[in-house]
Amino acid sequence: MAPATPQPEILAAFEAAKGFMPVGEGLALYAAAAEAGALGLPLLEVGTYCGRSTILLADAAREAGTVAVTVDHHRGSEEQQPGWDYHDPETVDPEVGLMDTLPTFRRTLHKAGLEEYVVAVVGRSPQVAKVWGGKAGLVFIDGGHTDEHATNDYEGWAPHVAEGGLLVIHDVFPDPVDEWTGQAPYRIYLRALASGAFTEVSATDSLRVLRRTGPGI
Ligand SMILES: C[S@@+](CC[C@H](N)C(=O)[O-])C[C@H]1O[C@@H](n2cnc3c(N)ncnc32)[C@H](O)[C@@H]1O
Repeated sequence: MAPATPQPEILAAFEAAKGFMPVGEGLALYAAAAEAGALGLPLLEVGTYCGRSTILLADAAREAGTVAVTVDHHRGSEEQQPGWDYHDPETVDPEVGLMDTLPTFRRTLHKAGLEEYVVAVVGRSPQVAKVWGGKAGLVFIDGGHTDEHATNDYEGWAPHVAEGGLLVIHDVFPDPVDEWTGQAPYRIYLRALASGAFTEVSATDSLRVLRRTGPGI
């Protein structure tokens, strides 16, 4: 069966949103989310930023009759802070002088008409993972790219992927030449495979899709 693809208006909203994910990886994420949605469980994202990838999870959730849950403290990752390559001055809250991507994220979802299919959790990924009680049909890890953050995201969220569900990891760069924020996502990808709990399904540029095929984590 051909992979599910988003409607043109959803793809247009994705392309118009602030964010870093290229279209090819977005299509792979959408296909994974559409497949995982069949489990009827929430589709969970770590790393909302301004909602670019959330649009795809939200639309897949809508189609499947479930919901997308997206987690972010909205203060930005290391490489998005002032002075770094990925900083966008428009994301700074002038009153507090810190990044705040929540308002842009809310506008992104509103414009895409997808607000009612998303639960946005504002908080730190490890704290949210600790209080998250249920399983997820899909966990998409696109949060902080230091070893500390990527490891916390893996350890906090991978156990919540339901049997048959999908673990998707962004910015997996096996070759250090390609790295721009380090290879921490690559290391958690290797760890997931080595755990015996996950089997690789697909690789699209830096996006890896793994299926939960056993216990072990
Ligand atoms: C690469 S961006 C996400 C990009 C987004 N998925 C997209 O497609 O545009 C990473 C996000 O992770 C968030 N983040 C980093 N570390 C985090 C943590 N420990 N807990 C929650 N969010 C975190 C940052 O605030 C940032 O918005």
